[in-house]
Amino acid sequence: MINVFQPELRREELEAVEKVFASNWVGKGKVTREFETRFAAWLGVRPDVLRSVQCCTEGLFQAMELLGIGPDDEVVLPTISFVGAGNAIAARGARPVFCDVQARSLNPTARTIEPMLTPKTKAVLLLHYGGVPCEMDAIVDLTASSKIALVEDSACSVASRYRGRACGTMGDIGVWSFDAMKILVAGDGGMVWCRHPDLAKKAELGLNLGLGGVSGFSREGGDRWWEFEISGFGRRAIMNDISSAIAIQQLAKLPQFIARRRQIDEAYRKLLADVSWLELPPEIPDHVESSYYFFWIQTAPPRRDGLAAFLRDRGIYTTFRYHPLHRVQAYGTTAGLPGADLAADRTLCIPLHHSLSDSDVDRVVSTIRAFHNRRV
Ligand SMILES: Cc1ncc(COP(=O)(O)O)c(C=O)c1O
Repeated sequence: MINVFQPELRREELEAVEKVFASNWVGKGKVTREFETRFAAWLGVRPDVLRSVQCCTEGLFQAMELLGIGPDDEVVLPTISFVGAGNAIAARGARPVFCDVQARSLNPTARTIEPMLTPKTKAVLLLHYGGVPCEMDAIVDLTASSKIALVEDSACSVASRYRGRACGTMGDIGVWSFDAMKILVAGDGGMVWCRHPDLAKKAELGLNLGLGGVSGFSREGGDRWWEFEISGFGRRAIMNDISSAIAIQQLAKLPQFIARRRQIDEAYRKLLADVSWLELPPEIPDHVESSYYFFWIQTAPPRRDGLAAFLRDRGIYTTFRYHPLHRVQAYGTTAGLPGADLAADRTLCIPLHHSLSDSDVDRVVSTIRAFHNRRV
């Protein structure tokens, strides 16, 4: 089976985990702090405003809490978003308001966001689809002039940059994911960045029971080290030294992962360019850098579903990310969003991960071609 996404974990990750075992400290400790510092350097941000988190979904929930989103508030997000983004808004009693995306890039724009803003809008929660950055200048202008917060879900964009700035660091809060299907894999894990240091401090408390690092043996002097104070009613959603040890190794390999993914993206574009019944993703503009998280093809709806089944039956797994949230009954919206509806019915994400070999890529391409030539 050729997987659509796949992690690449090797000897280096295993050796790093062995060291953590040997240290006898597998919880959150110095390895996790080292990962936070290294990831801050990767992004080009100050380490004191970046915190690791158990998973990106928790980061999204934290973001909504940190911004004080509550009942009666509205948060605008692209309908083609991860379901955890919609849940994070709805769980606060607020209303997720879904905006449209461009049919080919699957990214929202300032033009698709603006009509959805109302006096109740407190934030925009963006997704950079497939790791290709949204057009951020206009979106940052819009949210700043409307005096609403901007949150970037950068789960797909660990290496993406817009005019040199890391995705996730252009608004008020950014979140990343290191789950098993991402590019940088830690098993599970994530990161939360806050522009304002006071929000970052609040995040730290919210992620660790409100303890803020002052408890137990870390308290200055005295006995009764089991006593503590809290300054907030937080949950416990931290990374540990096992997952962080894996993440440090993956971070060191990230440039080579991205280089390989870029090669595969280029190969697909070249090898599928003459397939008249397929549309390929828009060219990646010069002013952005992609993480090459997804490669997607588009074709007419019945053919898209037939192609997915044909590939699956021949050992090639594909998918569509992300089923539009305005079509999910629990959110209670029914209105169509034309760009997203078109994209949702025509798009198929085909295998893209850095372990794919050239012959895997050739097999994907020749099977796509064979679909068209099949006898039905
Ligand atoms: C765009 C996006 N955001 C957030 C998440 C949540 O990440 P995690 O699995 O780390 O909670 C995912 C996971 O698939 C995702 O694809």
